[in-house]
Amino acid sequence: MENIVVTGGAGFIGSNLTLTLQRRYPSARITVIDDFRSASFKNLEGFRGDVIAANLVDVDLGYYIDASEVDAFFHLASITDTTDHDQYRQTHDNVESWRSILNHFAGEKAALVYASSAATYGIGGGINHVDAPLRPANVYAFTKVQLENLAARYAADFPSQKVIGVRYFNVYGPRETHKGQPASMIYHLAQQIRAGKSPRIFKYGEQKRDFVYVDDIVEGTILAATKQIEGAFDAKKFPRRVFNLGSGEARPFNDIITILNATLKTDVKTEYFDCPFPFYQPHTEADLKETTAAIGYKPSFTLESGIADYFKSGWLVPA
Ligand SMILES: NC(=O)c1ccc[n+]([C@@H]2O[C@H](COP(=O)([O-])OP(=O)(O)OC[C@H]3O[C@@H](n4cnc5c(N)ncnc54)[C@H](O)[C@@H]3O)[C@@H](O)[C@H]2O)c1
Repeated sequence: MENIVVTGGAGFIGSNLTLTLQRRYPSARITVIDDFRSASFKNLEGFRGDVIAANLVDVDLGYYIDASEVDAFFHLASITDTTDHDQYRQTHDNVESWRSILNHFAGEKAALVYASSAATYGIGGGINHVDAPLRPANVYAFTKVQLENLAARYAADFPSQKVIGVRYFNVYGPRETHKGQPASMIYHLAQQIRAGKSPRIFKYGEQKRDFVYVDDIVEGTILAATKQIEGAFDAKKFPRRVFNLGSGEARPFNDIITILNATLKTDVKTEYFDCPFPFYQPHTEADLKETTAAIGYKPSFTLESGIADYFKSGWLVPA
């Protein structure tokens, strides 16, 4: 990969991806596009490439990016606050950004990878198979379904083109601080413990999520591009071109408190409170069979080793 673009590259996952790509491809030309609506320049400390501060909805991509020159285009930019219920803003900004990217790259060699979400599965519990019916429960998830639909149409119109969607599960790790409330549960519980408070979770902490460390997500996202570039992705065998990226394991909320107590050397007791939501997802778990078969993704971090690495990075709790 010599010419790479990352949208949302100043955000949480995008900045981790950008910095990993820079380490792995030191001579590559890397460009970040971000309008900084939920980002921080601090995430890009050490980045040597170009940053275009622009809203993808109306930026003239042709002015900045020669589509024929790009090897890999990672589209992670999105409104990520799931509590933003402005249906027009979410749908307009998320979907129109993607439409203009797809139009810009139509007929080009670039391998496109875009971020979808496990939120597309909705609130039903259990193991999330990639071919399960999608039941978005909020407008954010609805926009991700639209991204997938648009990509499917694009793949049908341009069969030789490279495009893969990755449904991220619950991602945690360095460089999520700027997100505030939408940051991971692991981040928030660690802040409560550090502030000397009891960590608060819904009664009685047995709800399970597929928590996945950002390094694994970055790895899977890069694989989705490299496998396409190497011609090692079989689009005929996997015509959906959408894959789960998670840890493949569901862990109860209570486990986070146990691991944080061990990591932070504390012994705090959990405060349980009533879940205010009439429907709350009891269990998410990425089924990774297709992902492994199609792009060779295998997560390397457990919840224990992910939280340990996050702590070591200095981003989980300030020194
Ligand atoms: N963090 C998770 O657990 C998770 C789970 C599922 C899916 N995702 C997806 O992964 C991607 C990255 O999420 P994140 O957690 O890093 O969130 P984030 O909010 O930190 O990153 C999103 C980035 O996109 C930028 N952005 C938003 N709209 C834009 C626009 N119209 N033009 C230009 N830039 C724009 C923001 O400024 C921000 O830098 C998103 O697509 C998100 O939906 C994340």
